[in-house]
Amino acid sequence: MAKVKSAFFCQSCGAQSAKWIGNCPSCNEWNTYVEEIIQREEDKKTPGISAKSQRVNTPQLINEINSSADQRIEIQDKELARVLGGGLVPGSIVLFGGEPGIGKSTLMLQLALKENKLKVLYVSGEESEQQIRMRAERIGYTNPNCYILTETSTQNIFKQIETLEPNILIIDSIQTLHTAHIDSSPGSISQIRECASELLRFAKESSTPVFLVGHITKDGNLAGPKILEHMVDTVLQFEGDRNHVYRLLRSQKNRFGSTNELGIYEMQGSGLREVNNPSEILITNRDEQLSGIAISATLEGMRPLLIETQALVSSAAYGTPQRSSTGFDLRRLSMLLAVLEKRCGFKLGIKDVFLNIAGGLRVDDPAIDLGVVCAILSSSEDIAISPKVCFAAEVGLSGEIRPVTRVDQRILEAEKLGFEEIFISKYNLKGLPKVGIKIHAVSKVEEVFEQLFG
Ligand code: TYD
Ligand code: MG
Repeated sequence: MAKVKSAFFCQSCGAQSAKWIGNCPSCNEWNTYVEEIIQREEDKKTPGISAKSQRVNTPQLINEINSSADQRIEIQDKELARVLGGGLVPGSIVLFGGEPGIGKSTLMLQLALKENKLKVLYVSGEESEQQIRMRAERIGYTNPNCYILTETSTQNIFKQIETLEPNILIIDSIQTLHTAHIDSSPGSISQIRECASELLRFAKESSTPVFLVGHITKDGNLAGPKILEHMVDTVLQFEGDRNHVYRLLRSQKNRFGSTNELGIYEMQGSGLREVNNPSEILITNRDEQLSGIAISATLEGMRPLLIETQALVSSAAYGTPQRSSTGFDLRRLSMLLAVLEKRCGFKLGIKDVFLNIAGGLRVDDPAIDLGVVCAILSSSEDIAISPKVCFAAEVGLSGEIRPVTRVDQRILEAEKLGFEEIFISKYNLKGLPKVGIKIHAVSKVEEVFEQLFG
């Protein structure tokens, strides 16, 4: 084993100490000391630190550098490929975070099993081989070239990689790894950072794409140092309500593509199913017309989605009226209610208002405002809105209907799904393509109300 010297450094002022101390004597900050390697004796047997890393780079003309864009590895999982920006880039390192139980290990194992033309090594520090095998049987795909390794020491992992030479490496999870170069326990900041940098070196030198599964802390951040997110090429986040079946895959950082893409999965008994046409599942099928339901054409990242908003307005049973919302910002709901009260004369101040976005999604797109307002009015007046009508506009503080971005995409999606009428802002009319769907261009909430409920 290589001899390594390590010391503790204050992350705030850079002071050095041989031992861990809680309170930095030079800058007086608390809990800032982290173990770092200061000197590593070259170990010939450690792959990843090969002679290649010693070469001296010379400046190159940008036009003469080979682009790796056309060498992306195509992957079977279309949702994941979309979020990654169109396939896996060789040598890229992807950090994949999400709450416990959301399905990170499932998605990664599924990826390993679906790529049956590639040699995939799935390293797990959390589950036994038997557990993984059982999960693989549930998922139902088989890949004769999928290898499972239960190991947590990076040195041992690299040893196996040397003989196996996988095309894709999956580490589940980075918090369970430890390197022999640092004494602290797995999951500590210095271990995570050192293990990640060893893997990063491996990825870049061998051009192997690496997935790192990462844990999420209580407040929703990726566990470990922030520097981990700086080191990797792509940060993906798997989210969703654990009580609902839909899971969203977003990218927070992507060096090889846009971060606006969104992947949608449905958790089933047999693993995660890719949802290629999300709008159909987010709108409930109903035979009779019900009041309090409005459909909005929103955008999640780059994807147009039609989402159902349900509202219930009833007389307040207790003194203070309740406002509750699932999937929509409560403060924005209060604002919309105030607009309806002040500008349109609806007495909602004495009513309970409940709002729910179907499918367990969380929507931040302001274009859902008009749909929310119409669902509330529909419930309050107890008049159903035709299921062939949808909405895409923002509502301003004075009750004006404001334009939204990429309205053409929303309109085309609504038309594709068989909607016959759409309400948009009149300021969105310019440059619209010719469509078959009937467009209501409105500028005030009152106009919408008149056209809908007469
Ligand atoms: P898992 O991938 O273990 O989550 P993570 O690695 O993010 O902690 O997913 C666990 C959940 O997924 C578990 O609660 C059950 C559910 N699940 C299914 O519903 N169907 C399946 O086929 C699989 C494999 C898991
Ligand atoms: Mg897991």
